[in-house]
Amino acid sequence: MCGIVGYIGPRDAASVVLTGLKRLEYRGYDSAGIAVLHQNGGIKTRRAVGKLHNLAERLGEDPLVGNVGMGHTRWATHGSVTENNAHPHIGMNHRVAVVHNGIIENYAEMRGEMEAEGIPFTSETDTEVIAHLVESYMAGGDDLMGAVQRALTQIQGSSAFVFISAREPDRIVTARLGNAGGIVIGLGQGETFIASDIPAILEHTRDVIFLEDRQMAAITRAGVELFDLQRRPLEPRLHAIPWDPVAAEKGTYRHFMQKEIAEQPRAITDTIRGRVDFHRRVVDLPTLPITAAEARQLEKIIIVACGTSYYSALVGKFMLENLARIPVEVDYGSEFRYRDPLISPNTAVLALTQSGETVDTLAAMEEGREKGARLWAIVNVMGSQAQRIADGYILMQAGPEIGVASTKAFTTSMVDQYLLALKLGTLRGTLSADTLRDAVRGLSHLPELVGQVAEDRAIYHDLADLFHNRRHFLYLGRGINYPIALEGALKLKEISYIHAEGYPAGEMKHGPIALIDEMMPVVAIAPRDGVYDKMLSQIEQVKARGGTVIGLVQAGDTQVREKADHLLEVPVAPPLLAPVVNVIPLQWLAYAIAVRRGADVDQPRNLAKSVTVE
Ligand code: AGP
Repeated sequence: MCGIVGYIGPRDAASVVLTGLKRLEYRGYDSAGIAVLHQNGGIKTRRAVGKLHNLAERLGEDPLVGNVGMGHTRWATHGSVTENNAHPHIGMNHRVAVVHNGIIENYAEMRGEMEAEGIPFTSETDTEVIAHLVESYMAGGDDLMGAVQRALTQIQGSSAFVFISAREPDRIVTARLGNAGGIVIGLGQGETFIASDIPAILEHTRDVIFLEDRQMAAITRAGVELFDLQRRPLEPRLHAIPWDPVAAEKGTYRHFMQKEIAEQPRAITDTIRGRVDFHRRVVDLPTLPITAAEARQLEKIIIVACGTSYYSALVGKFMLENLARIPVEVDYGSEFRYRDPLISPNTAVLALTQSGETVDTLAAMEEGREKGARLWAIVNVMGSQAQRIADGYILMQAGPEIGVASTKAFTTSMVDQYLLALKLGTLRGTLSADTLRDAVRGLSHLPELVGQVAEDRAIYHDLADLFHNRRHFLYLGRGINYPIALEGALKLKEISYIHAEGYPAGEMKHGPIALIDEMMPVVAIAPRDGVYDKMLSQIEQVKARGGTVIGLVQAGDTQVREKADHLLEVPVAPPLLAPVVNVIPLQWLAYAIAVRRGADVDQPRNLAKSVTVE
């Protein structure tokens, strides 16, 4: 998704903005640009297609000098990837510049009307429409805030905007409509920052304000003035971000994804920290308030999520149904609102989203709200939209996840669901003392178990050498490990671009077994659980047809060892927590194959870290 950075203060705006955009590269983009209120007056822009170093070169050749500016990394929605379509876009008289995240759904008819009035367009984008609109309102006498306010009444769709104007050099104006990518405002000393994501400003300040849906703000060196769309002043809510700047850095790792796989023991420790009294066997989730009566009245939980988060939710279903005895449905965020879901006041809709900004998941939350459900969220980003609109939430506490391919958010979100299941099970009286004791004990050992598989081993690179040129992979799992087969396949396809499919192993004989040949490696997840013998049988069926099997087995396994061609070993873990451990070798395998193929691991083609457009 598009990245936005803005700055007003004593420093060189172009360099602050460019550094901020580099912190947002993981969001995925195909072009970039910066606009500055130039010291010689007027607005000057530099734009470039491709990676940020192209823009940096352009700036080196022809610097922008000024203390007020903004920049943008564009993930193309309307208009091809060209310099003309890169943001910022400026109005016909070069008095206003804008950067934009989201979609102006009615831009075509607006553009037609403007072209009929003789306004010249230089791009194919929807964004350029609002640059001309705001400029025309300012030409009619509005100030920048007034012109933006009036322009917002004309457009449809979800958008986040940042504007600068040569007529008002001491302020930046920003506005948000709907759930399009967030806007975070960072408060410094005599300087103020704007960004679409926290990592862009973390090195400057941790004191932030989040712009909510249908809000505008004037940003000055002194701070921020917040308004609703009727220009009524609002009291800003200040947040202190708990992340340290180092956490958002790669450090000695080659890729963010490599770092984030390796730091999962610490991330999971942080997820559990302060939430479990291991002596009294009590789980405390203060940000998700619910009484015992309310817990007992709960009839159903519907988990809504996308991508990797959806697969985490499939695991959470097992945890919540097993420990809290609550029926759980799991829906894709992009599907939920189209199926007219059956919801009662005793239904909880739980959004599971690392970014807290995934527009399909946010839309599913709104569907739940409209139908009267209790809204919960499990999120990683403090202050994200999903966290703010939920009645209760649980932070993953994984630290910033920069790599587009989600890893530590996946494992910590499963742990959060386990904590929620224990909390609800305790309140509903569905947990025997022994079950609670064993469940809490399993949690206490989890970081150590994860630590046993969190390092990057030679086996992953040996397998990458063997299989990095294969065109198809099949991942098989059963029960609570079927979602891990889905996640393992997604990891491989999204960073190595090899087609991979996760499948319930029991379904093999209903079709996929026709695919088996020596060219398609089959990853079989076979911990010694209740379906181990069934997995053994599936492995034999694959081998009988000349397939190659990579068996994921628990330490001490002997039977799969005799049948599989290659082994990935994990420590023995309690069945409900085993998915947290079992996924890690599959994360490493995908990483090793992607690196072996020379793929762009942290910024895979066509992908974005947070999908804020439908
Ligand atoms: C996972 O590796 C992908 N990056 C993607 O599927 C992601 O999980 C999905 O877009 C949901 O994102 P969210 O958790 O921020 O809502």
